[in-house]
Amino acid sequence: MEQKYSGLEAVKAASRGLRGTIDTELADASTPQVSESAYGLLKFHGTYEQYDRDTATALKQAGQEKDWQFMVRTRIPAGRLEPSQYLVLDALSDQFGNATMRITTRQTIQFHGVAKSDLRATIASINGALLTTLASCGDVVRNVVATPAPVRDAVHATLQDTAALLSAALLPRTRAHHSIFVLGSDGGEEAEEEPLFGPAYLPRKFKVGLAHPGDNTIDVLANDLGLIAEVVDGRVVGWIMCVGGGHGMTHNKPQTYPRLATPVARVPHSELQRAVEAVVALARDFGNRTDRRRARLKYVVDDHGLAWVKAGIEERFGGPLEDPPPLPKLELPELLGWHAQGNGRWWLGVPVPSGRIADTGEARLRTGLREAIRRFGLSPVLTPQQDILLADVEEADRGAVERLLREHGVVLAEALSPVARWALACVALPTCGLALAEAERVRAPMVGAIETALRRHGLEGERISVRITGCPNGCARPYAGDIGIVGRMPGMYAIYVGGDFAGTRLSFQLHDRVREAEIGDALEPLFAAFAQDRQPGEEFGGFCSRLGRDALLGLGAAPRLAAE
Ligand code: HEM
Ligand code: SF4
Repeated sequence: MEQKYSGLEAVKAASRGLRGTIDTELADASTPQVSESAYGLLKFHGTYEQYDRDTATALKQAGQEKDWQFMVRTRIPAGRLEPSQYLVLDALSDQFGNATMRITTRQTIQFHGVAKSDLRATIASINGALLTTLASCGDVVRNVVATPAPVRDAVHATLQDTAALLSAALLPRTRAHHSIFVLGSDGGEEAEEEPLFGPAYLPRKFKVGLAHPGDNTIDVLANDLGLIAEVVDGRVVGWIMCVGGGHGMTHNKPQTYPRLATPVARVPHSELQRAVEAVVALARDFGNRTDRRRARLKYVVDDHGLAWVKAGIEERFGGPLEDPPPLPKLELPELLGWHAQGNGRWWLGVPVPSGRIADTGEARLRTGLREAIRRFGLSPVLTPQQDILLADVEEADRGAVERLLREHGVVLAEALSPVARWALACVALPTCGLALAEAERVRAPMVGAIETALRRHGLEGERISVRITGCPNGCARPYAGDIGIVGRMPGMYAIYVGGDFAGTRLSFQLHDRVREAEIGDALEPLFAAFAQDRQPGEEFGGFCSRLGRDALLGLGAAPRLAAE
């Protein structure tokens, strides 16, 4: 039976290379909004139409329009920026955004609060800084992430340069982006050929990440295509290709689920780009175009099996691929604080709670970072932990850089508990239209409650990762790591445990609905048992995984859990 393509498929195919009606709609000053089809296509150009959900009800009651605004996301392969690029972005957040920047869990910068009338100018200015927003959102290959540590050796250089190379090679070929946002007109009727994607682009987003076994900060197995470097004598000689990772799922829809990528082949470094293109082509050809919830490569892998997938990649690659070796052990080093780069200089990893670079009261993080980068010519690196690494600090400047940040009230890593250092939270309210509950804005109290519960069991020094999202889509990777807290409805969260710190094991749902104020209580029986019964060297996630859901629930009911 012929199945009906999802609505966006027709919009993409008829869009003339992602042009659609964007050009005329941006020129229309009579409305702050765009049409549904332009909304779908604008994502491919790196921007989402949103509204301020905090003010929506009051505005509606007053008979007024919602506060429509746009989120703009840059593409920053491996999170590496020139100092001058950072300073341009910082200035843009004042000029067109809400005076904050947000480091994303995929190493980019997002702006919130951009008006439709400023969209072209914002994106053109980003382009002027030799950055792009093209393909930061939408059904394309997204920003390519890579191990961020600015260690100046051959392995890190290969990882980070390869991320930049792949990111550029996998961009759409359409000139629409440049025409609409830089030249100010969509450049006519003809669509350029898209040799890799075809006229309807990919069925869904496609994420690529590169890591080496010593540093899995990027959660390599959370990507559609995770590439793990094989290092011999200090050089990258090949890559283990892992396919089918992804976190997105929908509550109560068991046909959707998070999945870790599975090793499928080994490729020599010299063949990497061709092999990556072959995997993207497979997703293009077999990703589900009728149901967007089942469109990611992970479902192709599970529906067809790994052997079929490997054969499909080989067909598109044009030859056989080696079987993969077993996955090496992956580790997660501490990147915050001071570290030697290996070339006589240093980097300082600065924690950025929820990735939000803002000046708030005494804590003038945005000004402090801007001044440090400007005065000392530091190179910023954005991490998938939503933090910033200030690289290339001269030995003699270390004291002055740290002093400058402290003078601006910036909280440095040593003042934070391990839980606070490693906690992630997605944006959620007030901008994300999909948020069912708060995330970024409850990160501090939730982390505080967990810290308190840990302290009662002498676990305050324990390295435990907490990842909070406002809905099950999983933008802050809540199903990997030790504790996932996933929004269900306002003030109510599901709790996941049992994953591992290094991101190689998924967690399972422990509670379906816990009130926000009771999350510490819900976790405390687990902390108590962990403190008492852990095996030597066992991490919290490993302990939860060993005991399993039933035993953990049997540890004693957490007080006052809702609806269970
Ligand atoms: C069905 C799945 C998903 C949907 C529909 C979705 C949608 C969205 C939306 C609407 C935003 C914008 C929020 C805002 O800025 O106000 C967002 C942010 C983001 N999403 Fe997703 N997302 C999905 C899954 C994922 C997954 C699995 C990841 C990564 C593992 C991810 C990574 C990101 C990143 C990096 C951001 C930027 C903000 C941040 O770092 O929190 N998304 N997503
Ligand atoms: S996890 Fe959900 S609430 Fe959070 S940013 Fe992603 S889509 Fe929005």
